[in-house]
Amino acid sequence: MCWIFAYVWTEDCRKNLVEWLRMLEYRWYDSAGLICVWEEKEIFLEKAVGRVSALASKVDEKIEKEKNEQSWLFTSWIAHTRWATHGGVTESNTHPHYSGSQRFYIVHNGIIENYKELKKSLETKYTYYSETDTEVVAKLIEDMYDGNLKSTIEKVSEKLTWAYSLAVIDVQHPEHIIAIKLWSPLIVWKGENGVYLSSDINALSQLTESFTILEDNEMVVIESKKYHIYMAWERVQREAEEVGEVSSMSELWDFSSFTEKEIFEIPSILENVFSGRINFEEKIIHNETLEVLAEEEIEKICIIASGSSSFAWWVGGYFFRKYAGVPCETIISSEFLADIFLPEKKTLYVFLSQSGETADVRESMKIVKAKGCKTFGIVNVVGSTIARMSDAWLFSHAGIEVGVASTKNVIAQVGVLLLMALSFGSKRNLQISEIRDIITELASLPDKIQEVCLKAPHIRKLSEKYAHYKHFFVLWRNMMYPVALEASLKIKELSYVHSEAYSAWELKHGPLALVSPEFPTIVFNPSGKHYHKTISNIEEVRAREGKILGFISKNDTHKEVYTDCIELPDTSELLSVFTSLTASYLFALYLAEKLWRDVDKPRNLAKSVTVE
Ligand code: F6R
Repeated sequence: MCWIFAYVWTEDCRKNLVEWLRMLEYRWYDSAGLICVWEEKEIFLEKAVGRVSALASKVDEKIEKEKNEQSWLFTSWIAHTRWATHGGVTESNTHPHYSGSQRFYIVHNGIIENYKELKKSLETKYTYYSETDTEVVAKLIEDMYDGNLKSTIEKVSEKLTWAYSLAVIDVQHPEHIIAIKLWSPLIVWKGENGVYLSSDINALSQLTESFTILEDNEMVVIESKKYHIYMAWERVQREAEEVGEVSSMSELWDFSSFTEKEIFEIPSILENVFSGRINFEEKIIHNETLEVLAEEEIEKICIIASGSSSFAWWVGGYFFRKYAGVPCETIISSEFLADIFLPEKKTLYVFLSQSGETADVRESMKIVKAKGCKTFGIVNVVGSTIARMSDAWLFSHAGIEVGVASTKNVIAQVGVLLLMALSFGSKRNLQISEIRDIITELASLPDKIQEVCLKAPHIRKLSEKYAHYKHFFVLWRNMMYPVALEASLKIKELSYVHSEAYSAWELKHGPLALVSPEFPTIVFNPSGKHYHKTISNIEEVRAREGKILGFISKNDTHKEVYTDCIELPDTSELLSVFTSLTASYLFALYLAEKLWRDVDKPRNLAKSVTVE
């Protein structure tokens, strides 16, 4: 699904090849492949199943073996890391794919929905070696080749249905690379020694802060050290854009994984989220985007997202109702797409996405925009598609997230949603004194999270104690609901252990039947108005010999009901959302580590889901 390409004219790019490949490793990793073509039309094709590092070792080995035998001035290369959609994780399904005569090589990000019909139409002419949709496009290019690769790709693209970005090399003309995009992201940058192309902003942002982001249906023709962009056969003049704030790929330092490091970064991420948006001295929300938005005639908020981002919006929904008195509907993006959209002009449609590229979120936004409704993006990756499509936006300022499971960004999103709700509230009925109290509390939030992080050894011990269980219940009430859903998701995705989030209220309407000594229950029970009712629910579980792990506040008065507990700093119910989430991330992480899971790259998952 994801690829990066670099085109180099005068440089020996051997060491860069491997370096650039590693920049993509954090995203997709089922398999990876590359092809380099140099002046004499020699090709260097390598593929490997597994991590990018497996490909990198193969490339290293090959380079070492052939050292000094040739000059290795590559004209061009395309590389790809694959997250399997069509066909299993095998070397033959790994990109680049090639045409019948092996003249055209292609890498592709996306899905070609009509590939079966296309495959059938070419069946008598070509033998297929893979199960992929991409190979069909390679064959189609050869079949339709009219002597000019650019016009051929234009014609081929008219035959393709659905989202893709693809890049093609013609071995007969290695001085050219042509790429085209529809929906899937694609960016291009002219560096000192050549032109670089990537489907991942974070990867290229390691090299530059300014690049050209291709629009849908645009084609880029890279030739020697320059590139030209075309739209519907016409040349388009476009300068590279300063993307401004770019995250740098982080170092692991002494942490056992990027996921752990990213959880420990949460205090400083929250400082980023508040910086320039809260005036702590005057105790006011101070941000132009939010102020303009809060003045608008908005009667309802509709928040759309998927996965962990969708749990952040869920918390946001409570904030909007509670602090702004604005009705807030929250919808999973894929369900939004499946449903009938009835546009409401006075509704603000908020889209949450870490990557800014998630296909269902992006497609939902297109539907909303097409009906002339106002969109607002909360996105982490600067320059991403969703950020660019939004009428207005705020960045979540979480920095690059290397761990596939989102952690620090979810908390950053919750922070941004809280500021938005307070800003709306300030223009409506929220008392100034209440805003001031919340801001006073928020000033201490990074320190409170730090306190949670200091509990890591205790949390690790408990994770290890619970690591032999095959199932977990995660119970919640009210604002803790999304926290429980998110905690449960993290347990599933990091440790591959079954976990179910359930309302503590709902338990006795059916799921209580599952409770047994072998089915422990995790409970989020901070102090607040639901505290005592949750204690009653815990007693019901205890009466069935269920074990209880409580995420509770330090001053909890019923500690005896829990089998074990993780004591969190005393905070208001509002801030306990942040502290509980952080603690739950540590619990899921250490549970997974105890089970020897690869926490940064959980099986079957991709960091950025660019296909529906
Ligand atoms: C889970 C996780 C995913 C993402 C989801 C949306 O830990 O990371 O559930 O939250 O794929 O991704 P974004 O936020 O990039 O739209």
